[in-house]
Amino acid sequence: MGRERFLLLPLLILLAVAAPAPGPAAAATAYTADAGVILELAKSLTNPPPSWTGTDVCGGATFQGITCDGGRVTGINLAKQHLSGTLPPSLSDLTALQWLQLQGNALEGDLPSLARMGSLETLALDGNAFTALPPDFLEGLPSLQSLSMDDLPLKSWSIPDAVVGCTALLNFSASNASVSGPFPAVLANLTSLRMLRLSYNYLTGGLPVVLEGLDSLESLQLNNQNSDDKLSGRIDVVAKLPSLKTLWLHSNKFTGPIPDFSPDSQLVDFNVRDNSLTGVVPPSLIGIASLQNVKLSNNHFQGPKPKFAANNIDIDSGNGFCLKDPGPCNPLVTILLEVASGFGYPLELAKWAGNDPCRSGPWPGLTCIKMDVTQINLARKNLSGLISPAFANLTRLQRLDLSYNQLTGAIPDALTTLANLNYLDLSNNRLTGQVPEFKQRNIKLMTAGNRFGESDGDNGGGDGSNGGSSPSTPTGSRNSKSNAGMIIGILLAVILLVVCVVLFLHHRRKKNVDKFTPVSTKSPSGESEMMKIQVVGTNGNSNGSDSAIPTELYSYVSADSTNIADIFESHGMQLPMSVVLKATNNFDEDYTLGRGGFGVVFKGTLNGKLVAVKRCDSGTMGTKGLQEFMAEIDVLRKVRHRHLVALLGYCTHGNERLLVYEYMSGGTLREHLCDLQKSGYTPLSWTQRMTIALDVARGIEYLHGLAQETFIHRDLKPSNILLDQDLRAKVSDFGLVKLAKDTDKSMMTRVAGTFGYLAPEYATTGKVTTKVDVYAYGVILMEMITGRKVLDDSLPEDETHLVTIFRRNMLDKEKFRKFVDPTLELSAESWNSLLEVADLARHCTAREPYQRPDMCHCVNRLSSLVDQWKPTNIDDDDDDEGGTSETGLHQQLERWRRDDFTISDSDSFSTYSLSRKYH
Ligand SMILES: *[C@@H]1O[C@H](CO)[C@@H](O)[C@H](O)[C@H]1NC(C)=O
Ligand SMILES: *[C@@H]1O[C@H](CO)[C@@H](O)[C@H](O)[C@H]1NC(C)=O
Ligand SMILES: *[C@@H]1O[C@H](CO)[C@@H](O)[C@H](O)[C@H]1NC(C)=O
Ligand SMILES: *[C@@H]1O[C@H](CO)[C@@H](O)[C@H](O)[C@H]1NC(C)=O
Ligand SMILES: *[C@@H]1O[C@H](CO)[C@@H](O)[C@H](O)[C@H]1NC(C)=O
Repeated sequence: MGRERFLLLPLLILLAVAAPAPGPAAAATAYTADAGVILELAKSLTNPPPSWTGTDVCGGATFQGITCDGGRVTGINLAKQHLSGTLPPSLSDLTALQWLQLQGNALEGDLPSLARMGSLETLALDGNAFTALPPDFLEGLPSLQSLSMDDLPLKSWSIPDAVVGCTALLNFSASNASVSGPFPAVLANLTSLRMLRLSYNYLTGGLPVVLEGLDSLESLQLNNQNSDDKLSGRIDVVAKLPSLKTLWLHSNKFTGPIPDFSPDSQLVDFNVRDNSLTGVVPPSLIGIASLQNVKLSNNHFQGPKPKFAANNIDIDSGNGFCLKDPGPCNPLVTILLEVASGFGYPLELAKWAGNDPCRSGPWPGLTCIKMDVTQINLARKNLSGLISPAFANLTRLQRLDLSYNQLTGAIPDALTTLANLNYLDLSNNRLTGQVPEFKQRNIKLMTAGNRFGESDGDNGGGDGSNGGSSPSTPTGSRNSKSNAGMIIGILLAVILLVVCVVLFLHHRRKKNVDKFTPVSTKSPSGESEMMKIQVVGTNGNSNGSDSAIPTELYSYVSADSTNIADIFESHGMQLPMSVVLKATNNFDEDYTLGRGGFGVVFKGTLNGKLVAVKRCDSGTMGTKGLQEFMAEIDVLRKVRHRHLVALLGYCTHGNERLLVYEYMSGGTLREHLCDLQKSGYTPLSWTQRMTIALDVARGIEYLHGLAQETFIHRDLKPSNILLDQDLRAKVSDFGLVKLAKDTDKSMMTRVAGTFGYLAPEYATTGKVTTKVDVYAYGVILMEMITGRKVLDDSLPEDETHLVTIFRRNMLDKEKFRKFVDPTLELSAESWNSLLEVADLARHCTAREPYQRPDMCHCVNRLSSLVDQWKPTNIDDDDDDEGGTSETGLHQQLERWRRDDFTISDSDSFSTYSLSRKYH
């Protein structure tokens, strides 16, 4: 162009000199040329507009739709004129044309070249019948601002690279226009673009990351691709478009999660319906204030159902949200989805939907015991991404197989904290970093075929010196020695299992349990009421479990009940029934944690936190249960200690008496000692047992004396000792706790407790002192040393009671060595420590109460042993207050209670208030 102008200039001067009247002649030629093109256009249309008569194209009112300026045609607007025919090739001679609007006609044939229309700003072709585009389409259009060409029956084409020349382009709409092939990455060069619409085409492949350069893009519509593969891949790039207001990606095959949006996002329309998106809807999207239309249906979204403020919402159908309503999921779901998030929410884990990972056909890859995940097998699932530290929150996990995937990053250290993990296969991935040190006993660890030692993100190559060969040793060598031991262990465990099963069958002879209501205390776990005795009075008469209670033990306050109600009320622990029902999924049988004393314990979820809900048996509730219920609340209100299970709230409603406790994810000590096969736990090490023993001793010591008053638990046993995920222990079940009078600290009561753990003087006379608990504690120590249950019906008459045989066997060192739990691997040092604890157990179970030590003596002896053993793991927990975590939960519960409190629930409370009397 520039050079042409150089040549043209002297030529014009020459002409000006030569010709006598040049001015009007030059103008007339230009006029004629543009008019000629319009006249040619009129000819090629089968039905030109009726006003197009004569030849004076720019002359006035005749040629409707034609705009001229200085004799040049600058605009053609023939929208919706029912025109048919074709466009003449000479059209491109209209070099001054600024707008060409032909939409809504029936023009057909080939679109002529437009390459010389350097001034063209608006080009609208939509809704015609053009079948082909010129080879130079989009060339030479530097002024073009708006291009719309929707609904054209074109032959398949792809957007030419020449589009980069349209540097002024703001709006580009070509939907239903046969655009084919991979998404045109070249569009990323059009940084001025505000609107891009390519819906209903034949695009395939993913969104190129370079699109993030489109800083001005406000509207992106790529919905409903007709190609078999549609658009696919992840949509992360859309969150990087800072001006985006409208996003239509529906009816494609996009995968992966919704990316995180910036808080400054101005999104108004967000439509990703009918894709294969996965994962949790990010709060960053939910929080966008400008959102008005949100469509998420028919994807594989997981986790909590999002709660949008927008008015037009379509999110319900075809997704895998955990609940029908917005709200936190079951904590296990939260953990598992965090695990899936590490892998980038792959489609393979889209079936991790709903709120019941362990129910009827658990989620793919999971094995559960008691609604908790014990095994995960995701080998050969083509997983990429990272191993999430959230695996460490699956505290019951025993086996984890992630072999033969494409996982990257380092093995999280947190995996080493999984106390029950005994099988970990991470072989044949692309893991880097260091293999952390796994201290779990007998863990089978496989890590071969990774890239350990290379730095993160280093894709092989590099120094090459240790490329491939990882420092991790193959499996086997570490475990072969202990194989024989393991077999013996398994054999013994099988024998123990048989014993447990026999007991279980033995105790099951009682009547069958109604499925949901009423509550039954029948225990399928071998500990039934048969073992629990209730003796009334002081003469040792055993009355069975339904004994009448002497009336002096309690009395109703029917009229004036404000007193106690007020106390509890001010404490703010009462919860509405509806909440407890929701928390436990209407007392779902599958969420049963255990059955004991006077009710069933359910696992529940309150505000996204796990809780244990004890539902007292309404059948046996009567006076006795009611007393226990109130006693328990009363005690727990007063005592807070890190080794006593915290009460978070309670509920009374009709006949229902419900207590809500902190949830202890590690199960009961009983499950860790005897019911190993059923619970799936690995045997506790000696150090772990010592730590638990000390925790329990500290809890009881606090009950006995450190609290202002003296409490006696009266029902200590392994099933009342709960463990958290770190296997630290807390004492639970305060239903039988007695407040001893300050003066003599002993009194006569009805005998209550569990057979086997009852101190002899208490069983025969009903005289209760703190030494009753010391005796039971001694029995528990014996069970921890031997791994046996206190009563074993399968043994001969004189050997059924553990205390008797234990004390007898202690006399003979060899006999005693065989008597010790065979799953314990004892060094010489730990053997000595065990002997000391055995001696303490013997001391605690002395026949006469005065011969037994105080709990503080037990704490002292054990803490000296534990300190020498494992000084790092035992914190100085001399504080008497509960830990901070449960305080947080309690506060949350309280806040929630304020929000959702209903009068009817609180009203029923007063009916059941009673005065506390212990004599
Ligand atoms: C681009 O499209 C938007 C809405 O789709 C419209 O408001 C705007 O006027 C168009 N711009 C041009 C230059 O055509
Ligand atoms: C696509 O365009 C054709 C005309 O080319 C029209 O008949 C059809 O209805 C359009 N389809 C959609 C989905 O708009
Ligand atoms: C688009 O921009 C990129 C980087 O800015 C450049 O490499 C590429 O050549 C451009 N595409 C065209 C067709 O000019
Ligand atoms: C996992 O445990 C850690 C530490 O206890 C906690 O901070 C985190 O919130 C837990 N994650 C989930 C998903 O429960
Ligand atoms: C595995 O995943 C990669 C991307 O992560 C993908 O390209 C490949 O096709 C997948 N292979 C299979 C068999 O699904």
